[in-house]
Amino acid sequence: MLKLYDLEFVPLIPQAEIAAAVQKISDSILKDFHDEIPIFVGILNGSFMFISDLVKQYPGKCEVDFVKMKSYVGTESTGKIKEIIGLGNPNGKPLIIVEDIIDTGNTIENIVNTLEKTGVSNYKIASLFLKPEVYKKPYKIDYLGMEIPNKFIVGYGLDYNGLGRNLPEVFQLKNKIK
Ligand code: IMP
Ligand code: MG
Repeated sequence: MLKLYDLEFVPLIPQAEIAAAVQKISDSILKDFHDEIPIFVGILNGSFMFISDLVKQYPGKCEVDFVKMKSYVGTESTGKIKEIIGLGNPNGKPLIIVEDIIDTGNTIENIVNTLEKTGVSNYKIASLFLKPEVYKKPYKIDYLGMEIPNKFIVGYGLDYNGLGRNLPEVFQLKNKIK
């Protein structure tokens, strides 16, 4: 049992399962990009641990970059994207957008719109987790680690009000402590 502020969490995805999902994504990206130099673009803060493990697994040549966005407050998506710091010029190199989790898809929609506006079409989307019950956007997730139920999760980069990002495994919300 894990307690973060007022909420209790129980284990959901062990480290070995996460590692297998990361490996699967790395293999698929290598298959598609072994002749090129992709730029892995992590969406901060949530994707920092995933992108770190992903690029360590990735045996090909690559670059690493980051953008910063925020749509979650507490355990709910606000639907509004709060910040974007630098979705830069890729110099024609393919971009792999690296997300920790796709929930409503508002963040990914914002990124896709920003990329299309700046004329970037050479990109793919990778996400470690997807909540298929919530995600109703039309954008294809090119590389997906695993689908998860519509539960709030923490760990492996994901947080509850800033806590839990450092946990090496994933926990799901249990119930509110009265
Ligand atoms: P979306 O814009 O609703 O798809 O959500 C995108 C972002 O919200 C993700 O990149 C996460 O940072 C955050 N997020 C979504 N679901 C969860 C969750 O279950 N726990 C923690 N953060 C989440
Ligand atoms: Mg995120």
